[in-house]
Order: sequence, then C-alpha cells, then structure tokens
Amino acid sequence: MLTMKDIIREGHETLTKVSNEVKLPMSREDKKTLFSMMELIKNSQNKDIAEKYQLRPGVGLAAPQINVSKKMIAIHTLDENNKLYSYMLVNPKIISHSVEQTFLTSGEGCLSVDREVPGYVLRSKRITIKGYELKENGELASIKLRLKGYVAIVFQHEIDHLNGILFIDRINKENPFLVPENANPLEF
Ligand code: NI
Repeated sequence: MLTMKDIIREGHETLTKVSNEVKLPMSREDKKTLFSMMELIKNSQNKDIAEKYQLRPGVGLAAPQINVSKKMIAIHTLDENNKLYSYMLVNPKIISHSVEQTFLTSGEGCLSVDREVPGYVLRSKRITIKGYELKENGELASIKLRLKGYVAIVFQHEIDHLNGILFIDRINKENPFLVPENANPLEF
C-alpha cells in the first residue's frame, strides 16, 4: 500500500511537468497504480489506518504526486450536500468552464505541500470534464461529469497536477486575498 513516503513534495521536478496521456486500453500496471492511489485516499480518511500509518487526510491524488507522470486522478469526497464523489479518472480533460469563479475561504491544501500557504485559489465555479472512469471491477468507461462548487474545486486541483501546476502557483503573489468581481467565496 502507498503511504506518505511515496508522495513527492513541492520542489520535485515531476510536479512541474505536463504528464503523459495514459495509453488505452489501459494496462494492468496503470490500473494497479490508480487503484492504489484511491486506496491511499480512502485510508487517509480512515481514522485508525491514518493514525497507524501517519497519513495526512486528503480528498484527492494525482499520479504525478507519486512520481508517475501519467494523466490519472483519484478523488473521494463528499460535496456540500453530503453526496459522495468517488472517481478514478483517466485522461480527464476540462472541456468547458464557467466565467464565474469561486474559492475556498479556508484556502487549499495538498499532500505534496508540507506548509500552510495563505491565500485564495481562484477556480471556475462550474466545469464539465470528459475522460474515462476506471470502475472498481477494472472496466474502463467514457464519462462526462458536470461539477460545481466544492467538488469542481477538487477536480480542478487534481487536474492542475496533470499540467504541472500546484495550488500555490495560483495564489496572487502581490495580494493573496484579492477577490475579483466575478468570484464568490465558498465556505466548506
Ligand atoms: Ni494536490
């Protein structure tokens, strides 16, 4: 199983690279990697396991964070209405996004960033994603997801990793708490 020692941190070259498309049909090896990423996220949310293995709680992970430069993300989180979003995505792409923006008032965090970085991370309020979903049974199916609010933020954070972008790169250097006119805060 993956633990925190498998996660590369801020400063590592892989986190700055645009990752490679996953070749389809998906290899057994790539599926194994993506399953293990989801396992780590679920483990990190399990109090006993997280304590035992010293896991920082997380809601998502991108393959580059375990030094695999491929377009795969795992997300496991509840939205504002307690609806579960649990997805293992392959080659996800944001195909449209709203002009309206949002941001978490508490800021964002990342398993690859070991420090608190103050500031707002502006994200599109609504996005549409296309890609492939790896199911629990190992099947791959094309998927189109329309997301808004908190989960839209989470998916954008993970897809950013596939493009070599960390949330800290998106914080305004001069004025970290600057709120543009078209941005609404989200408390979560
Ligand atoms: Ni991250």
